[in-house]
Formats: sequence, C-alpha cells, structure tokens
Amino acid sequence: MQKSYRRYLLALGASFMMFACSTSQNETENNEPMKVVDHHTYAKPEEAVITHLDWDASVNFDTKTISATASFDISRAEDANEIILDISGLSIQEVKDGNGQPLTFEVGEAKPFMGSPLTVSLKPDIKRISIKYTTSPGAEALQWLTPQQTADEKDPFLFTQSEAILARSWIPVQDSPGIRFTYNAHVQVPEGMLALMSASNPREVSKDGSYKFTMDKPIPAYLLALAVGDITYQKIGERTGVYAEPSVIKAAAYEFADMENMVDAAEQLYGPYQWGVYDVIVLPPSFPFGGMENPRLTFATPTILAGDRSLVSLIAHELAHSWSGNLVTNATWDDFWLNEGFTVYFEERIMEALYGRDYSEMLAKLSLQELKDEIKNINAGEHPEDTELKLNLEGRNPDDGMTNIAYDKGYYFLRLLEERFGREKFDTFLKEYFTENAFHSMTTEEFIKQLNKNLFEKNGVPVDEKLYQEWIYGEGLPADCPIPVSDRFTKVDEVLKKWEGGTPIQQLISPEDIITEKWSSHEWIHFIRHLPESMTSEQMKELDDYLNFTYSGNSEILDAWFVHAIKHNYTPAYKNMENFLIHTGRRKFLMPLYGEMVKTEDGKKMAMEIYAKARANYHYVATSSLDKILDWGNNPM
Ligand code: BES
Ligand code: ZN
Repeated sequence: MQKSYRRYLLALGASFMMFACSTSQNETENNEPMKVVDHHTYAKPEEAVITHLDWDASVNFDTKTISATASFDISRAEDANEIILDISGLSIQEVKDGNGQPLTFEVGEAKPFMGSPLTVSLKPDIKRISIKYTTSPGAEALQWLTPQQTADEKDPFLFTQSEAILARSWIPVQDSPGIRFTYNAHVQVPEGMLALMSASNPREVSKDGSYKFTMDKPIPAYLLALAVGDITYQKIGERTGVYAEPSVIKAAAYEFADMENMVDAAEQLYGPYQWGVYDVIVLPPSFPFGGMENPRLTFATPTILAGDRSLVSLIAHELAHSWSGNLVTNATWDDFWLNEGFTVYFEERIMEALYGRDYSEMLAKLSLQELKDEIKNINAGEHPEDTELKLNLEGRNPDDGMTNIAYDKGYYFLRLLEERFGREKFDTFLKEYFTENAFHSMTTEEFIKQLNKNLFEKNGVPVDEKLYQEWIYGEGLPADCPIPVSDRFTKVDEVLKKWEGGTPIQQLISPEDIITEKWSSHEWIHFIRHLPESMTSEQMKELDDYLNFTYSGNSEILDAWFVHAIKHNYTPAYKNMENFLIHTGRRKFLMPLYGEMVKTEDGKKMAMEIYAKARANYHYVATSSLDKILDWGNNPM
C-alpha cells in the first residue's frame, strides 16, 4: 500500500474529514476542529465510508443501460448501523453483504439534481456490501451516441461525464469529492469495441469484448469515467499516448505531439507525476466540455484539433489537474476554485516553460478578459456573491457555481502571490503543498492556514487578512489584480485601432502574414473579441472576404466570430454557424451563441429551429443549461 494512502486510511478513524486546524474560519467556538460539510451528498462518512470499489458491469447499447454489481469495502464506526450512498435514477435490484447474505435497503425520495439516498442497513462486522443495479436510459452522466453521431459512423459510442455530481447516475457511490477509494473493474461491451476507464487501460480491442481495469490510487467519485466505442491507440512518448476513433487518430497524434514534454515540464515545476501513464482520448464532438481530467486518461473535445497545435493549452490544463484536483482535491464544490484556479495557474506555467512568456501572457490576457466579462455577467443575475472565490452552493446545483470566477479570479489570486513573494518562494510553497497534501482533500480555510504558515510566516511576512477578505470572501475584482503584459496583443490592438479609423484591412495585414501565420489563433481571437460594438454587417463582410473567419478551421475563432454575426445580423455566416451548432456539443461554445440569439425575437426563432435539430447531439450537461435559456420545456417545437 502506498504511504500517503495509508495515512489517509488512518485519518479516517474517528475523525473523518476533520481538520485539526487553528485558523478562525475553521474552528468552532470551543476550539474543536470543524467538520467539513458537503451539501451535495447524502453520505455520512463519519459513520461508514467506502474505501474500495469492485465494479462488474455490462454495457448494453440496445437498451442504453448499464447493468452492474458495485461491491464496496467499507470502513465504519463500530456502532454504525447503516451506510448511505448517493444514487440518481438507478434501479436497485438487491444488496448483499460480503458473504452473499441479503441486506435490507431503502431508497429515499429523489430531489432535483441530488438524486436519492440509498440507505443500506449494516449488522455488526459487515465490512463489504454488493449492490446489483441497472442505470436508467436517461442517466445524466451517460451519453449514448448512434453510429451517425460519431466520426466514423461505424459503431455506437458511450462516454461518461461525472463531475460534479453525476457519478451517482451510473454507479451507486458516496459522491463527494472528499471521499476517496481505489477501484477495480470488469466491463463487458459488444465484441469489436474498446472500453477505457480512468484507470490502467487496454491498447487493443479484446477478442470477446471483456476488459479489466485497475485504479490503485484513491480517487473521488467525480473522477470515475468510462468510454466505449470504435477506438484506437497511438503512442506519443514514453508515458503518453492518444486514443481516438480511427479516422481521427492521426490528427490527434499530430496535435498532441508535445504531450510528453508537457509532462516533463510539469514535473520540473511541482514534483513527480503520480499516476503512471498520461493518455488523452479525443471523443466525438458532443462531449460537453473542452476537457475532463479523468486520471490517467483525459477526456477531450475534438474541437481542439485545430491542425496547428494552437489549442493545446487545454491539454496542459487537464494534465495540471493530475496535481491540482486529482492529488489535492477540493473538499466540497464550494471550494471548486482550489481545483480550477490552481490548475489555470499551473497550466500557464507549463505553457510558459514550453513556449515562452510572450505566449503565456496572451493566455493570461484572454483570461483577464474572461474574468471581467464573467463578473459583469454574474452581477446582472440573482447571485452576485458567486463572484467570490469561496462559494456557498447549499441548496443549489453545484453546476450553477462553476463559472469562470474559479478559473480566472483563482488564477489571478495565485499570480498575485507569485508576484508578491517571487517565483522561487512561491514555487517552493506550491511544490510542498502538492506533496504534503497528496491524495487528500482541501478546504479553502485549510489552504489559508497552510498559506499563512508555509508562505507568509516562513518568509517572515506578516499575514495579510485583507487579502483573503477581498480575494476569497469578497465580490468582484480586487484593485490589486495583476496586469498581464502582452506585446503581441498590443500589436493586435494597433491594427484594430487603425481599422476602426478607416484603414482597409488589406493594408494592415499582408497576405504573407496570413499565409505564414504570423498571428497565432490567440491573436485572432483577441482581434475578433475586440471588434467594435458599432460594427456593421458590411464591415464584417469586408473582414470575412479577406480573412475568411466564417470558414475557419479553429473552433475558438468560429465561436467568437459567430457571436458578432448574430449581434450584427451578418447573414452570410448563418449557414456555417448552424452547421457548427448542430455538430458541436461543447457547452462553452453553445452558451454564448444561443445566449446571443435569444436576445431578439427573430434570433430566438432561429435559435429554436437550430436547437430542435441539434438537441439530440448534446449531452445532458449542455441541454440542462440550454433548456433554461431557451425555455425549452415550455416551448415544445
Ligand atoms: N474539470 C473541468 C471540467 C468540469 C468543470 C466539468 C466543472 C464539470 C464541472 C476541466 O478541467 C476544465 O476546466 N475544462 C475546461 C477547459 C480548460 C482549458 C479551461 C473546459 O472544458 O472548457
Ligand atoms: Zn479544469
């Protein structure tokens, strides 16, 4: 057993998820360590908690269901008389103990987004339970694709998306980021198809559709993942490789050629990569996110295959989660910024190490823009407190709090610390933080405590409470936010200014510049995002005739351009925009486009027509957000 895991199991004893800490935020009045409460689980880990899962499953594409037995080793208080797991839409057939004796169980009332508690009665000495169940065809985490919805149109495809609290829709589990367990799995799929998990993975199709998996490091439930389809593998480096459908594999291997260097750069920064191999699977386009950091196997959207390696910072991001998130995990979804803010910071450091400061500063500038836009956006809604880093999502779907604040305000907070203390000291702190807390969960308050001790006090700097009040517990953008400097974007701004002043675009950007790709896609994105509000559709045509944005092969460029097309009624882009919307399921791209369309009556009509055609191609994660902005349930087409 690994040392850190043993330490974790010992800590489970009587004081599950208690932090013996001394900061004001984390203490009760009588100085007792405070219990961490996760509002988004029914589990009571202090009574009984899962430590290992054996999953035996069979994937059925005809019924769109998974039938499985989930057996758990549990660690329990001696007097515990039940264990509670989270389930959503699962039909539970039977529950047994380790000797095959039936146990009584109860499924509680289902609540929106939370699902139901599954309460299993425990007799003394029971240390293992087995749950036989079937998923529902509407399981939120699962997306079942027809062959036509894949690149090769040969086999159907299944993938999961468990973060934040969707794991419970395909496995009965204590679905809280603070609860970790190891797992083994045996999965049966139709012959000829490959199955992959967030675990040790096969590289070739098996003869009989049977696959075995092992994850011997403890992970939280949101990192459980499965993909099944017509998938092939190509090696990239010693520890890295890529999976994709056969027709996509070459493009994927080309795009991610730098993966091995990224792992090396990341290790140089914050210590050894702990998960063995690092692979990426490029999924069909309906995958609702850019990427998902499933351990050993990042799940990624094909929209980052731009052909010029320009969008690979997303791989750096998901790789960085192998430390920030997968090693040191947000204890609850209120602490989400500890996962994402640290990861954006780490991502930019990897990109800087590989491609230089002038490259990473472009990313930082884009991130600041996104942060400012998000603050405006949130302030226009009902929850201005969502611009605080530390969230309070009690009674709300955690998905609602997962905004750019965690990413970009989190990033700038860490960058501020770096600038105050200098890189060397800050890097020493971070490396130690990842090492000391590996395979543990982290609350915002415990982080502050460690920061005070290991960065401030250690370096003889007085603790700065105001910093936390403004950045972590305060709304909006603090005045001391660092300012990124990008000469490359300054040049873009100059072009923009001259163009707005009336200089034709041909005089500002030469044909050779376009051919030699003097500007990276980030410069183009910056350019497009800063085109003037007052732009006319004629001006859009002038740009498009020369720069061909409407037919760009870069999804980020398309998305930014189409937002303007809707705003300024630039109809020549509509056909390709519709095509993009029907064939892309990435929520980050869909929301701004549908969001812009619904602002006018004609736009709303267009949005509804496109959505009617596209909705079947989207994952639940995307439709649950889009249904709301389009008022879909009340507007059946
Ligand atoms: N862990 C997230 C994806 C996620 C967040 C899933 C919240 C469910 C709930 C992943 O690491 C991520 O941040 N993906 C980004 C890409 C990144 C480069 C900012 C995405 O999908 O856009
Ligand atoms: Zn992330």
